[in-house]
Amino acid sequence: MKHFLQFSDFTRDEHEHLFARTKILKHRFKNYIPYQPLTDRMLAMVFEKSSTRTRVSFEAGIYQLGGQAIHLDSQSTQLGRSEPIEDTARVISRMVDLVMIRTFEQEKVERFAAHSRVPVINGLTNEYHPCQVLADIYTFVEQRGSISGKTVAWIGDANNMSYTWLQAARTLDFKLNVATPAGYPMKSQRGEMLDLKHLEVFTDPMAAARGAHIVTTDVWTSMGFEAETESRKKAFADFMVDAEMMAVADRDALFMHCLPAHRGEEVTEEVLEGPQSVVWEEAENRLHVQKALMEYLLLGKIDS
Ligand code: CP
Ligand code: NVA
Repeated sequence: MKHFLQFSDFTRDEHEHLFARTKILKHRFKNYIPYQPLTDRMLAMVFEKSSTRTRVSFEAGIYQLGGQAIHLDSQSTQLGRSEPIEDTARVISRMVDLVMIRTFEQEKVERFAAHSRVPVINGLTNEYHPCQVLADIYTFVEQRGSISGKTVAWIGDANNMSYTWLQAARTLDFKLNVATPAGYPMKSQRGEMLDLKHLEVFTDPMAAARGAHIVTTDVWTSMGFEAETESRKKAFADFMVDAEMMAVADRDALFMHCLPAHRGEEVTEEVLEGPQSVVWEEAENRLHVQKALMEYLLLGKIDS
């Protein structure tokens, strides 16, 4: 049994399988060709933080594959009344076939998975957001071909998205340029920061963006860190992705953002709505990549 708790849980070969399946499943969806290999399979979705894209893409995705979904949150379940995550995992996983969790510490999804009888998917933690980066890289592959050997510029906060991009760079062999403000550096996680082949750290966001094939950013304050909002606005003021920054990137560069976006903070309206932006494609591709992911976790590698 496999889980998808971090991007690096899957090998390059497994990610390439997912991209190939995503293309097939997306084609079927766009052409109204029914494909329901997960009939009678049940997905439990546990949300301890808000969501629009993750909720809709997993719920629509499992229904499209013939399965069903149960939506749970901490307010209306015993999770909010301190039932241990291990006990919750043992109970839920006796009743469903697959679990997706969005929560705070990565450790919580790891503990859930360790006590689960069924595969577990990380739908975002403080540390990682692997489903989003899967969709983002699929979006690049779809529009530009292989990401191997390319350069991705991460501008802004050292957060769940940037750490997942770093894992992806190491897994799929591309380079990540990271520019974060003083006082908000990427922190070493099991030696990943020492991988100088796949990571270069900048203080100047323009230098990080120069020549990049993807320029990407995210909110300055992630969910769970709201108390820091005002101090972050000051610290991040020079880290807005604007037309000037896109102009120093590769001429075919794509702009990416996992959404939701704050126009006029981490990105200008002009860039978000501009011709290089693929933010809506990224959002749609959440549906398609996660259908491939659920298929893989429940049925293994299939090619029909
Ligand atoms: N990008 C993303 O995960 O969006 P939601 O918070 O709306 O799920
Ligand atoms: N970094 C953001 C991503 C939201 C999808 C957060 O964790 O809030």
